[in-house]
Amino acid sequence: MSETTTPTNDPTTPARQVSGVSIRLDGVTKRYPGQDRPAVDEVSLEIPAGETVMFVGPSGCGKTTLLKMLNRLIEPTGGTIHLGDEDVTRQDPDQLRRRIGYVIQAGGLFPHMTVGTNVGMVPRMLGWDKERVTARIDELLDLVGLDPEVYRDRYPKELSGGQQQRVGVARALAADPPVLLMDEPFGAVDPITRQRLQDELLRIQEELGKTIVFVTHDFDEAVKLGDKIVVFDVGARVVQYDTPEAILADPAEEYVADFIGAGATLKQLTLTRVNSLELRPVTTASVGDDAAEALARARAAGDEYLVVLDRRGRPISWPTTAEVSRMQQIPATVDEKLPVVGLGSTLNDALDTMLAASQGGAVVLGRRDGLAGIVSIETIMAAIQRARSEVAG
Ligand SMILES: Nc1ncnc2c1ncn2[C@@H]1O[C@H](COP(=O)(O)OP(=O)(O)O)[C@@H](O)[C@H]1O
Ligand SMILES: [Mg+2]
Repeated sequence: MSETTTPTNDPTTPARQVSGVSIRLDGVTKRYPGQDRPAVDEVSLEIPAGETVMFVGPSGCGKTTLLKMLNRLIEPTGGTIHLGDEDVTRQDPDQLRRRIGYVIQAGGLFPHMTVGTNVGMVPRMLGWDKERVTARIDELLDLVGLDPEVYRDRYPKELSGGQQQRVGVARALAADPPVLLMDEPFGAVDPITRQRLQDELLRIQEELGKTIVFVTHDFDEAVKLGDKIVVFDVGARVVQYDTPEAILADPAEEYVADFIGAGATLKQLTLTRVNSLELRPVTTASVGDDAAEALARARAAGDEYLVVLDRRGRPISWPTTAEVSRMQQIPATVDEKLPVVGLGSTLNDALDTMLAASQGGAVVLGRRDGLAGIVSIETIMAAIQRARSEVAG
């Protein structure tokens, strides 16, 4: 079952399925006891169903307070919040929270519970029967790129930071809530892991179409993940609310321009995605395949290496033909250094990944972490040259 893959970077993106609901804030205010200025001062904002809206702004400007009022972890002192047609302040907070997934830094997992128990918590609270909960746990672990067989019964401390964060996302999605709130979820992981988690989120969102509100202090992250960005100042004053493209092209105030940083033209590169590039097909082989047969196919295709897929169709290594010629069977060895990017990765991400791996190309993952093709450093450099000349012109 091995064949040459066809690139799946079809530029005509299908209309995204929407399962989220809109969120409307009217004059929302939070005044903490003993503070002379409200932390959140009469904020009005409309977040469309199925979109990812990023909250950015300086530390202490009220982003977390605003986010926590959406699921009533913090009670507003004024104003109204609607989820779809429903007034949030009139709902039972516990019931409300089951309809809103919440992801925080480091996943916020319960350390004494297994991964499976963590993920299945809300469905169990909702009274789902055991079989349905078990099936849901496996489905979600699969969705966030963790093999259920391997990870279901592990404890959080047995996972890397990035894996814990994936479990955190799986848990937040468990009861299929229409809304996902994320407060600097990827702040505590290394840059390469963060990039992978961002790619995963883009892929998951492509599939699910939730309404996502995502707090970050990283403007690049906001540009990469956001359909829209809200730039806040103190008191959660909305300085600008627009698409990443519009904010980069025309920052509303000097303050926004400062926040974006000096390299705003280069930031345009963050807007260009791997899915806009031409991907190369590559010969693939599955674990356990006969090496001589795989080698013959790679040579026939003129490939100098081939990509090994695990039993779930996910790329795990890319041995050269010279290496394969010394093998009997295609091994299950996972190359931890395999440079991997998603279709939603930015050109900056892809370059970083290749540089970190000292490789002139990267494996591109598509749906469910399947192989979409190969992107080479030359293709990326050419695209960057084009973007630069467009920005300059
Ligand atoms: N529980 C609290 N009690 C009093 N003041 C708080 C509390 N939580 C946050 N604040 C204050 O409210 C403001 C907004 O905080 P926060 O929402 O955490 O901002 P951000 O997430 O943007 O960094 C800050 O001035 C902070 O000190
Ligand atoms: Mg905060």
